[in-house]
Amino acid sequence: MNEMAGKIATVFGGTGFLGRQVVKELAARGVRVKVVTRVPERVYKLKTSGDVGQIVPFACDYSSEVSVEKVIQGSDLVVNCIGILYEKGKKQTFQRLHVELPAMIAKLCTEEGISRFVHISALGCNAGISRYSRSKLEGENVVMSHCPKATIIRPGVIFGREDNFFNLFAGMIRSAPFMPLIGGGKTKLQPVYVGDVAKAVVKALDLATDKYIGNTYQLGGSEVMDFKDIYAFISRHTGRECRPVTLPFKIAKYLAWSMEFSPRPLLTRDQVNSLKTDSIVSEGGMDFRCFDIMPKSVNLVVPEYLERFRKYGQALKIETIGGVNGKRT
Ligand SMILES: NC(=O)c1ccc[n+]([C@@H]2O[C@H](COP(=O)([O-])OP(=O)(O)OC[C@H]3O[C@@H](n4cnc5c(N)ncnc54)[C@H](OP(=O)(O)O)[C@@H]3O)[C@@H](O)[C@H]2O)c1
Repeated sequence: MNEMAGKIATVFGGTGFLGRQVVKELAARGVRVKVVTRVPERVYKLKTSGDVGQIVPFACDYSSEVSVEKVIQGSDLVVNCIGILYEKGKKQTFQRLHVELPAMIAKLCTEEGISRFVHISALGCNAGISRYSRSKLEGENVVMSHCPKATIIRPGVIFGREDNFFNLFAGMIRSAPFMPLIGGGKTKLQPVYVGDVAKAVVKALDLATDKYIGNTYQLGGSEVMDFKDIYAFISRHTGRECRPVTLPFKIAKYLAWSMEFSPRPLLTRDQVNSLKTDSIVSEGGMDFRCFDIMPKSVNLVVPEYLERFRKYGQALKIETIGGVNGKRT
């Protein structure tokens, strides 16, 4: 029986890369979804993923607890997918979005008696020198202190057709004369498929079981890759030559500093700091096995969407074209 059908879920950050997938998974299970956003127009494309009126945009002013409370009220399930990669101005800070806002949402979830709350953190979050990683860890702690029934999900770097990872590096390899290997490119990552993370999030919200309540899960994919592996993988699947060049951390920081003046910096000094630590699933923790999910390999998913970066256009898939002897009809 589908215990979730007809329930109401509130998804903060439901317009984002992961949030959109979570909204689609929830809608597929018959859940009515409130997508919380600063810009309701961003939800319009998502509405076709559900029945009429099933996916509804909710504008929210995050600086007002009353506004956040209003969107949570009446919900059975809450997911927080809000997150940023770099800070900008006084409003977009790690402290505000990764710590204070999750604390407010968690507190309201407890006050409103919400049955399930899933908070998205990040694999490799730690108390080290990166402010991003520290804020993600602090966010987990405040969420658990305000709402001990919450479930924390720590995904590795997430891939999928609309990702900002393989697409970004493939775009750079297409146009840049060399590719930087920051600190020698030895940082280990464990890329994870967006669909697998969304499935785990929705399983953790399942009202039929309590087994995910109060736990933290590390969700990494089936491959551990460093930057040399990642560039070689992209190069192989796009047919583009990649010239990796080692960039010591110190020089990378100077470069990042100059990029921080751009409205959407490609690299920040804090990101350089975060590359000093691996972002992989640690031994003995809870992971995808707890959700009975076998994570998809990058080899299965990524080559298809890297096609557009191929050197001489997309490869002709003879076997998919009808006609005589593989010729187009
Ligand atoms: N993508 C990854 O590789 C990855 C890896 C590990 C962990 N994570 C974590 O997973 C979560 C989802 O990541 P994602 O890649 O889906 O992020 P995303 O695509 O950048 O989406 C971020 C969401 O956060 C909201 N947001 C951004 N800035 C905001 C602000 N100043 N105030 C309020 N809301 C704001 C946006 O909502 P509106 O603009 O609609 O208001 C958007 O829906 C985040 O917590 C992220 O840290 C992601």
